Amino acid sequence: MKSKTGKTVNLKSYLLILLAAGCMTRMAVAQTPVITLDLTKQGASVSPMLYGLMTEEINHSYDGGLYAELIRNRIFKDNKNTPEGWSLVQDDPAAKASIKLIAATEENIPRDERRLAINGALSTCLRLTVEQAAGRVGIANEGYWGIPIKPSTTYKASFYIKGTDRREPFRQPWEPKPTTPPLPVIENNTAGPITVTLESKDGKTVYASGTINLEKSNYWKKYELTLTTADDVKPTKDARFVISTNRTGQYYFNLVSLFPSTYHNRANGNRVDLMQMLVDMKPKFLRFPGGNFLEGPLITDAFPWKTTLGPLESRPGHRGSWGYRPSDGMGLLEFLEWTEDMGAAPVLAVYAGYSLEGDHVDAGPLLKPYVDDALDEIEYVTGDTSTYWGAKRAADGHPAPFKLKYVEVGNEDWFDRSGSYDGRFTQFRTAIEGKYPQLTCISTIADAQYPNMKVTSGKRPEVVDEHYYRNSWDMWENASQYDKYDRSGPKIFVGEWATREGAPTTNLNAALGDAAWMTGMERNSDLIIMSCYAPLFVNVNTATATAPKAWQWDSDLIGYDALSSYGSPSYYVQKLFSHYLGNKLVPATVTNIPVQNRPLTKKDSAEGITSKTVPTLFYSVTMNDTTGTVYLKMVNTTAKKQAVKINMDGTANISPEATLVVVKGNKPEDTNTINDPGKILPVTSTIKGVTKSFTRNLDPYSVSILQLQTRK
Ligand code: AHR
Repeated sequence: MKSKTGKTVNLKSYLLILLAAGCMTRMAVAQTPVITLDLTKQGASVSPMLYGLMTEEINHSYDGGLYAELIRNRIFKDNKNTPEGWSLVQDDPAAKASIKLIAATEENIPRDERRLAINGALSTCLRLTVEQAAGRVGIANEGYWGIPIKPSTTYKASFYIKGTDRREPFRQPWEPKPTTPPLPVIENNTAGPITVTLESKDGKTVYASGTINLEKSNYWKKYELTLTTADDVKPTKDARFVISTNRTGQYYFNLVSLFPSTYHNRANGNRVDLMQMLVDMKPKFLRFPGGNFLEGPLITDAFPWKTTLGPLESRPGHRGSWGYRPSDGMGLLEFLEWTEDMGAAPVLAVYAGYSLEGDHVDAGPLLKPYVDDALDEIEYVTGDTSTYWGAKRAADGHPAPFKLKYVEVGNEDWFDRSGSYDGRFTQFRTAIEGKYPQLTCISTIADAQYPNMKVTSGKRPEVVDEHYYRNSWDMWENASQYDKYDRSGPKIFVGEWATREGAPTTNLNAALGDAAWMTGMERNSDLIIMSCYAPLFVNVNTATATAPKAWQWDSDLIGYDALSSYGSPSYYVQKLFSHYLGNKLVPATVTNIPVQNRPLTKKDSAEGITSKTVPTLFYSVTMNDTTGTVYLKMVNTTAKKQAVKINMDGTANISPEATLVVVKGNKPEDTNTINDPGKILPVTSTIKGVTKSFTRNLDPYSVSILQLQTRK
């Protein structure tokens, strides 16, 4: 007999060849992973709050980020020693001029300068002294790594200014006359036009300008004007904001502000592009104000929600947790309005008496003022206008109370080695849930993560917050950790997590780690009621001659500079997981999941572990039980295409067409950047030939979402 190649073979050999071929085919079939969906059974409900956002002032998330203010250091308090972000503008070398920071509350400054505070919040100002006029002299603000100039754009500028000569220093009647010679009197010629410009950094190109008429007065006055760019202006961030004069005298400035248009045109609002990116994620909640930002380095630095309310004139800012001073323009009401604009719910974290450097306030009478403060804060959020704080919120412009369900007590209190959290949590919870029975307090110490530190006094917490910052290997290794969790324990809020690979924003490998981890949370969304990635934002600027590097934390979700923004591969994974999500889990079984060897860590070796494998394929399945749409998510973490057989048991009606959305790249390090924002983007297509049992090839390094239609 002749074989296919034409060679003559005997029957025995032929049978052996057939047998071998059969075995190989069987082996190949046996190795193909199979995901079998059981559509005969209704799975558990998917948590309606599953995917949300977490935010705090880190990486210039608000100042120089989402909060649309363009002036850096607008009340001059960012640095006690120098007017950071500001410089002197002097076009003609013949002029004699200088600028000086004046902190009116400092003890050791001249008496006349101590009268320069506008109020307790605006107690530091900038003085421009023009002793000799020649050409234009002024002050320039460099913005947050530049001021964004866009065509046909209107900017609202405002500032407090007063022009004055030096007066006789103030003296109490009993004080002796000063012995020092009087200060030189500069000709006071300050009244008149003051020019305001948006211009290139060298001052040679003016993009927009306007004037105000400075009155002759010894008192502070606020001036406002709009600046509009022409329609042929080329977008740039290499611009500055200048206020200038051509006359002698001393000019004092405070609360200098510049806003472009904002999302929903809110006054004191948010950047449009960044808000749109968030809204596109369809987040169900926003956890705020932190993170470490809630706690502050010291007890006195905790998020001071009361001084973040009302007009900007009454917001002094405070010492933040990430090395720069937040303006608190993004205050409590702005956080709430931000959630409202996204159609999301607030998850309010209240300061619980523990700060980052390790100080804590013990439960008991010393903690009571903090508990009362949290109750006031909750009243501000939820109280009607008959309450003290509800009326304050109405006066601030939002009469309608906000809907609140979850209050998180503190942040990462497992760092508090004193063991005081048990008592602190219980005191907060008793007061909060006592006054507001509709609220649920979240414990920041999770039973499973910190069994020896968990809250044991009082009622067991209903919800606990777990945090995970891992590399992709850890994510792949632990992606099924919740499959084994105790269902009789508290519900879980995964309140901070990320695969930390890539900087400033994450790369494709991180997105593959995230996606694998999310399939695990999704499959267990009867237990995982909420989850949010962190950190959300990063200003991607590196250090310049005048400004430090903008970010403190590598591997963030959304990057931006003054002019533009982009999503990391992880951002697109978050967005897709949130979009393509049913309300019920679909019971599914898998066979033949391939594995790969994980390189051993030092810890593994120390523990005597000699080899470790992790899966290369991850999946989750949910469905919309009203429409019959099934969402199958699959992650292939390897460099090879991977065939997957999909069986759909228990449905007779399957549309032969399905929607496929894929995020993929050529190598794990592939990423998006501010200059190349579209390297990795989701691609949507329609696939045909879907049946009850079909096979798909998953692309290398890919996250694939199949939207299948049953009950056509
Ligand atoms: O997300 C960055 C930081 O990580 C958060 O501020 C803190 O809660 C966590 O340790």
